[in-house]
Formats: sequence, C-alpha cells, structure tokens
Amino acid sequence: MGAVHRLATRKDASDLYDIRRRSILELAPPKMPVAEAQAWAAKLTRAGMEQKLRELEVWVAELDGIVAGWGAIRGGWLEGLYSAPEFAGRGVGAGLLEMFERLMCEQGVRAVRAEASSNAMAFYLRRGYRANGPQSPSGAWPIAKQLL
Ligand SMILES: CC(C)(COP(=O)(O)OP(=O)(O)OC[C@H]1O[C@@H](n2cnc3c(N)ncnc32)[C@H](O)[C@@H]1OP(=O)(O)O)[C@@H](O)C(=O)NCCC(=O)NCCS
Repeated sequence: MGAVHRLATRKDASDLYDIRRRSILELAPPKMPVAEAQAWAAKLTRAGMEQKLRELEVWVAELDGIVAGWGAIRGGWLEGLYSAPEFAGRGVGAGLLEMFERLMCEQGVRAVRAEASSNAMAFYLRRGYRANGPQSPSGAWPIAKQLL
C-alpha cells in the first residue's frame, strides 16, 4: 500500500528530527564518508527542526500510521527529503518527491531546484533531475528538474 501524505505539525518535531538524523547516519554512508555524514547530521538542532516546521512546508509520509519519512519545500525549492532507515527502498522518498512535483506544478512552478547530497545524486538523476552547476564546497550538487 502507498504512503499517506499529510502536512507536518509541531507535534511531529521530535519524530522528524530523529528520522533526519538516522537517515543521514545510516543511509548516506558508504556513498558518503561517515565523518561527512556525521557533520551533516549535526547541522540541525531540535530547535532548528522546530524552526523548519514554522518556515517551510513540511510533509510527512506515513505507512500504516507510522511516520516513515518526510520532506520539505519552499516555493520551487526542495529543502529536504529523508526516509527512516527501516522504511528505505520502499518508495517513501520517491513518493514524497512525486507529490512535491505535483504540488509545485499546480502552483505554476516551472522547475524544482535542490541541493543534492552526493549520496542521493543517483536517486535524483534517475528521476529526471540534472546537475545545475558545480559541486559546492560542502559537497552538495545544485540540481534542477523542469516541470512545465
Ligand atoms: C534519498 C532517500 C530520501 C531515498 O529514500 P527511499 O525512501 O529509500 O527512496 P525510494 O524507496 O523511494 O527509492 C529508493 C530505491 O528503492 C526502489 N524502490 C521503490 N519502491 C520500492 C519498493 N516498493 N520495494 C523495493 N524497492 C523500491 C526505488 O526504485 C529506488 O531505487 P532507484 O533509485 O534505483 O530507482 C533516502 O535514502 C535518505 O533518506 N537518505 C539519507 C538522507 C538524504 O540523502 N536525503 C536527500 C538529501 S538531498
């Protein structure tokens, strides 16, 4: 059965913080060096997660009522996409991404943009995204996908 998507609320902050941290630490390596994943995971605090919930449009994917992943958008920007490691490879990330593209299309956004981490680059390339500039000093790739 496909995931159910819903907007996140402030009550989700702790679950989403935890999923982000575990997804980075457990799913990004070995494509990303462990030290790099640790540094990336540490970039967001619990207060920072609460701030994201206030400032971004954050969506949750639930499988059988359990939060399995989440993603965030702002306008035409994909600001984050994370799957709980225990649900990885079950279409949670791809499902959220498709939903975001649909939402953006409806809002007249012409192209989705994101900063892809090196470990997730292949995931995005297989879904029609293209590198849109040089790799940043932090290792992220600017990517884009034309929608309209
Ligand atoms: C990148 C990330 C979000 C992908 O999430 P995911 O839920 O594992 O992704 P999906 O399951 O949708 O897709 C992963 C693969 O599983 C496959 N898959 C999809 N549905 C599946 C199913 N029902 N059964 C088995 N495999 C399936 C997909 O085909 C996909 O393979 P492909 O990329 O070779 O086509 C996840 O790996 C993650 O959180 N990584 C750490 C954080 C991160 O890098 N985020 C991106 C920041 S830019």
